[in-house]
Amino acid sequence: ETLDASGMHVLPGAIDVHVHFRDPGYSHKEDFGSGTAAAAFGGVTTVFDMPNTIPTVANAEVLTAKHKLASEKAYVDYGLYAVLGEESLTHIDELVEAGVIGFKCYMGNTFGRIPSPSTGAMLELFELVAPTGKRISLHAETNSIMERRESRLRAAGRTEPLAHLASRPAVVAVEAVARAAILAEWTGARIHVLHISSAAELRPLAEAKARGVEITGETCPHYLLLSEKDYEKSGGIVRVNPPVREAPNREPLWNALIDGTIDMVATDHAPHTPEEKTRNDIWTVDCGFPGVETQMPLMLTEINRGRATIRDYVRWSAENPAKQFGLYPRKGTLTVGSDADIAIVDMNRRWSIDDAKIQSKSKISPWQGWSCTALPIHTIVRGRFVMKNRVLNEQARGTGRSVHTIQKMPAPAPKNTDATMAAVTGGKG
Ligand code: NCD
Ligand code: ZN
Ligand code: ZN
Repeated sequence: ETLDASGMHVLPGAIDVHVHFRDPGYSHKEDFGSGTAAAAFGGVTTVFDMPNTIPTVANAEVLTAKHKLASEKAYVDYGLYAVLGEESLTHIDELVEAGVIGFKCYMGNTFGRIPSPSTGAMLELFELVAPTGKRISLHAETNSIMERRESRLRAAGRTEPLAHLASRPAVVAVEAVARAAILAEWTGARIHVLHISSAAELRPLAEAKARGVEITGETCPHYLLLSEKDYEKSGGIVRVNPPVREAPNREPLWNALIDGTIDMVATDHAPHTPEEKTRNDIWTVDCGFPGVETQMPLMLTEINRGRATIRDYVRWSAENPAKQFGLYPRKGTLTVGSDADIAIVDMNRRWSIDDAKIQSKSKISPWQGWSCTALPIHTIVRGRFVMKNRVLNEQARGTGRSVHTIQKMPAPAPKNTDATMAAVTGGKG
């Protein structure tokens, strides 16, 4: 068989720091085999899997079992998150020892209904994680407000998309980002803001960066490309936490990526079955949809339209995730050697997304019928083809490895809170 890469673009494989592969516990939605196969078809060579599986990843025993499961099925490399909450409070060091890639803190409620720590508990948890150097990724939405709003709207029979938006207004994200940034500033913890959906969140993010807080942010293709109009088109299928917002949010998110306020693009790949996505009552539709396979085609289509440069895209998809999670330069760049992670992409291919044909078990997404002008043709993980000429290399199942062994996240300098206080008060404290 011939392999022809003439006229194609060779890019570092994408690193998606936010996927839900559902294994174990929800393997009817996805598992490590189907999820990492979808990644391979999307030019994604490393994924970080979220801890809202069953049981929740909150101690070393559960993490180790999940590592074993992943190693048996994965086509691409992976890291595994643990939850940061009261249930993991006494297990932080053992989780680090067992190779956790980072911690996920659910400030607000979402799929899996993981309890959110109080601000006081968060302070304690940030203090415990800071010296380990690991990054804390935040589901930054404030809980109680939206829970009450949602039940009120639901009781009033409000099902239209804007009612859904109103149930999780941007202010709950703005408040959560600002609060987490203050806790990070005072504890020295590194934090990462997941799924930035609104222009309003950019202010607390940029302000924290300007103060020197070790904070990074991601946005997802659906916040860059969809808007409230898509609820009319796709109904509950577009339902996701945080919600896809009104169209004017999109331009500022693109600009924030270009100017570096937002560091990376992740997908929040959150598969559910067609039945779970098409219930009549929009409030009972599971939130999220698959994305790991379509991120690169959708984003590169925008690059082809002149939205940004291909160099920008490589920064968002590979270089910054690798740098900010301690994998650079082993990952996130085109290395000279035999262990390269590569996506070979046809940047001049017209095709349309067909949900029925995606690798993910969840064959339903708001991207159905979207036209793209770019497509990954081959994907290589550490020198091995995992996807060649749009065909999965079945032999590569179980060759994906955990990247915790190459992660370098040196502990930051300890925070002197008195010095911080002096900085905050201008020395008058
Ligand atoms: C995610 C899921 O389904 O696990 N859903 C979502 O709407 N994004 C959870 C999450 O990331 O909030
Ligand atoms: Zn989330
Ligand atoms: Zn998520």
